[in-house]
Amino acid sequence: MAGAAVLLITLVASAAASRDTPPRKIAVVGAGIGGSAAAHFLQQLFGPRVQIDVYEKGTVGGRLATITVNKQQYESGGASFNSFSLHMQDFVKLLGLKQRREVAGKSAIFGGEQLILEETDWYLLNLFRVWWHYGISFLRLQMWVEEVMEKFMRIYKYQAHGYAFSGVEELLYSVGEYTFINMTQRSVAECLLEVGVTQRFIDEVITALLRASYGQSATMAAFAGAMSLAGIQGNLWAVEGGNKLVCSGLLKLTKANVIHARVTSVALHNTEGRALYQVWYEKEDKMHSDFYDIVVIATPLYVGSNSNITFDGFQPPFEEFVGSFQSTVTSLVHGYLNSSYFGFPDPKLFPFASILSTDAPNLFFCALDNICPVNISATFRRKQPQEAAIWRVLSPQPLERPQLKSLFRSYYSVQTAQWQAYPQYGSRMATPLFALHDQLFYLNALEWVASSVEISAVAAKNVALLAYNRWYQDLDKIDQKDLIHKIKTEL
Ligand SMILES: Cc1cc2nc3c(=O)[nH]c(=O)nc-3n(C[C@H](O)[C@H](O)[C@H](O)COP(=O)(O)OP(=O)(O)OC[C@H]3O[C@@H](n4cnc5c(N)ncnc54)[C@H](O)[C@@H]3O)c2cc1C
Ligand SMILES: *[C@@H]1O[C@H](CO)[C@@H](O)[C@H](O)[C@H]1NC(C)=O
Ligand SMILES: *[C@@H]1O[C@H](CO)[C@@H](O)[C@H](O)[C@H]1NC(C)=O
Ligand SMILES: *[C@@H]1O[C@H](CO)[C@@H](O)[C@H](O)[C@H]1NC(C)=O
Ligand SMILES: *[C@@H]1O[C@H](CO)[C@@H](O)[C@H](O)[C@H]1NC(C)=O
Repeated sequence: MAGAAVLLITLVASAAASRDTPPRKIAVVGAGIGGSAAAHFLQQLFGPRVQIDVYEKGTVGGRLATITVNKQQYESGGASFNSFSLHMQDFVKLLGLKQRREVAGKSAIFGGEQLILEETDWYLLNLFRVWWHYGISFLRLQMWVEEVMEKFMRIYKYQAHGYAFSGVEELLYSVGEYTFINMTQRSVAECLLEVGVTQRFIDEVITALLRASYGQSATMAAFAGAMSLAGIQGNLWAVEGGNKLVCSGLLKLTKANVIHARVTSVALHNTEGRALYQVWYEKEDKMHSDFYDIVVIATPLYVGSNSNITFDGFQPPFEEFVGSFQSTVTSLVHGYLNSSYFGFPDPKLFPFASILSTDAPNLFFCALDNICPVNISATFRRKQPQEAAIWRVLSPQPLERPQLKSLFRSYYSVQTAQWQAYPQYGSRMATPLFALHDQLFYLNALEWVASSVEISAVAAKNVALLAYNRWYQDLDKIDQKDLIHKIKTEL
């Protein structure tokens, strides 16, 4: 009898301990925007006492990076954000950074031989709207995108109330029900044809916009497509001084312990009924390890990815992470554009700062932009078309010399960054989980349905809330259905 009582007391005591004591140590793998934002949200929730180690094998910022040309820095990865990016706006404010508005410039769409669409005003939307030859298509596209964004924005309210989701499907269902889930399985073209957008508009305009943002065509999944098309509403912005400043700023603010090392594996250890994770990492050619209560993987996982992390001791073992990534090369060319290539023999008369392209078979680039440095002074003006400028060329493969020679009359320098940029939408059927194990989380799960800086921030907050709600066993705050109604009655 006495023994049973003692056992009971121990059980109650350990349950109480697990409910009330905060975790000791948390590991975040990856210091891109996802990992940096996760460190920040985890600290907000668990308090300043918990130690947060952030592992980074490359450079802080990840796919947010800059290249220096002529003593000025230019964005070489994630470049701009739309006006729906609420977490990013908060971070910029919190860190005392400034938003940098895009300097006005006209766009055109190149069909492989000539320009098939030219903008006569600086902001894509206004003028696309009045192009009579596309009729009502533009308006229908706009309504479709707005409807998707309006629903997606519900996630901010759910997160503000502390709700989290253990899988991507649960998250999508809670904001957009079956419509959103179906949009991850159907193509952009299919969904747009259904709402009355014409095939010609899809082939000429939608394809060009999707190539510029994802390097993919209108056969890509509709959800990712709609999220990226939200940018055509205009009002794009970036961070003054470089987008990557948000990552370093958040890590500094949380006083996270940044460890420059490559994580090779995460192994499970069970001690007294609670999971403990051993993170192995390679630093200066030596292997080290450390133990954590919570681990967040903040980098994409797929077979052949360069994150190359294995998971040991999990029963049953994790299924293989299927899917593939789109490789994209950013080339920053300092030189003189060959405007003849686009049908403008006189360079002075070439009015465009941005050229999108259709998927005509001979086209080797996705988009070409005359870009501004990350620091722009009040006196900044765009270069005249006949002057040397910095052009950013996005292409699926590195540009070969003859290709550069056809796009540019001459150039001073070419610098490149090669990215595994974003998932190939359609390469993965099932939607992945955020929760891989009790306290082991996969932030980039959400990227498999849409990829952007803001999406990574949304996933970071979800994962932080999920870790917190699980740690304190607040199960009412996980995977709740009908949140729209619940939140109304909570207020
Ligand atoms: C060319 C290009 C243009 C883009 N344009 C835009 C845009 O205009 N707007 C927009 O919103 N988005 C854009 N994106 C997408 C956006 O950049 C990404 O969605 C976002 O930056 C992803 O952030 P992340 O933190 O989730 O991943 P990442 O930035 O990839 O961060 C993952 C980090 O983990 C590290 N890591 C990986 N494996 C390990 C390991 N084993 N151990 C330790 N560290 C590891 C990596 O080095 C990396 O730093 C663009 C992307 C590219 C490539
Ligand atoms: C989504 O797809 C399922 C199965 O294909 C179908 O039954 C359902 O009606 C679709 N829902 C919507 C809103 O399109
Ligand atoms: C660029 O902007 C950042 C952030 O505002 C600032 O810290 C940096 O000093 C600026 N650099 C230059 C060269 O103006
Ligand atoms: C992945 O890591 C293992 C050891 O951790 C190594 O043997 C292998 O070569 C790596 N693979 C890639 C593609 O980097
Ligand atoms: C520029 O483009 C034109 C038309 O495609 C091409 O004939 C020419 O060789 C290109 N290069 C230069 C340096 O003009």
